[in-house]
Amino acid sequence: MSKLTKTTRRPPLEHLAIIMDGNGRWAKQRELPRIAGHQQGVKTVTRIVDECVSHGIRFLSLFAFSSENWGRPRPEIDALMGLLLQFLSSQRLKMLTEGIRLRVIGDLSRLSAPVQAALTDAERETAQGQTLTLVLALSYGGRDEIMRAAKRIAREALEGRLNIDQLDNKSFSTFLDTGEIPEPDLLIRTSGEIRISNFFLWQAAYAELYFTDVLWPDFDAEELQKALDDYLQRKRRFGLTDDQVEPQLRMRESND
Ligand code: IPE
Ligand code: IPE
Ligand code: MG
Repeated sequence: MSKLTKTTRRPPLEHLAIIMDGNGRWAKQRELPRIAGHQQGVKTVTRIVDECVSHGIRFLSLFAFSSENWGRPRPEIDALMGLLLQFLSSQRLKMLTEGIRLRVIGDLSRLSAPVQAALTDAERETAQGQTLTLVLALSYGGRDEIMRAAKRIAREALEGRLNIDQLDNKSFSTFLDTGEIPEPDLLIRTSGEIRISNFFLWQAAYAELYFTDVLWPDFDAEELQKALDDYLQRKRRFGLTDDQVEPQLRMRESND
C-alpha cells in the first residue's frame, strides 16, 4: 500500500491503542524464562513505533503494565521495570530526533523513585515532539483511573472550584490521565485473548476492536498492516443510522 493511501485512509486513524499480550507464552513455547518474552516484546515496541511514524499515526498508546500486574511475582516485576529503564535510555536520542513525545499514564506513585524520575525526565525532554505521541500505560487500570478522576472532581467541587451541574462527558474526560489526548480509534489486542483487561474503559467506548492470535513478540509490520486494513473496512456509526453517517462520510471524502 502506498504511503498516500496510508495517510488518507478512511475512516481516519489518529489514535491507535494496543494491549500488548503474549510475551510469557512466546517464551514458554521456546522453553525460555518469561523475561525473554518481555525482552522480545520490547523489540516489537520499537518496531511498531517506527511503523506508526511511517503510517502518519499521531497517537500510539501501549498498555505496558496494568494495575493488576502488580500481583505478579516480584522478580518478574523487577525485570519489567529494568526493561523499561533500558528502553527509555536506548530510545532517548531516537525520540528526540524523530519528534516522538512520550506521555505516561497510570498511578505512577506506585513505581519506584528511580523509575518515576526516568519517566519524568523522558516526558520533559521529549515534550516538544510533534510527530507521534507515545502514550505508555504503566501501573494503569481503567477503573483506577476513573476513580482517581472522580476523587479529584469531588475535591474540586467541595472546595468550590467546580460546579457539579456543569460537569459533562467532555469535561469529565479532562480529569482522566489521558486529558486532552483524543479517544482511540482502533484498539488491538494480541495473543488471542478476547478481553479488555481494564484498559481504556472510558476512552474505548467507541473504539473499533481488533483481536489477533499473534503473540506480541511476533507482531510485526505485516500484522499491523492487516489490522489497519481491517479497520479501513469498518463503518463507524457512533449510535447514528447509516443514512445519517453516509452524507458525513461523503463530505469528508470530498474535502480530502
Ligand atoms: C504482556 O505479556 C506483558 C505484560 C502484561 C507485562 P504477558 O506477560 O501477559 O504474557 P502472557 O499473557 O503470560 O503470555
Ligand atoms: C493485560 O495483559 C495487561 C497488559 C498488556 C499490560 P494481562 O496478561 O495482564 O491480562 P489478563 O490477565 O490475561 O487479562
Ligand atoms: Mg498476558
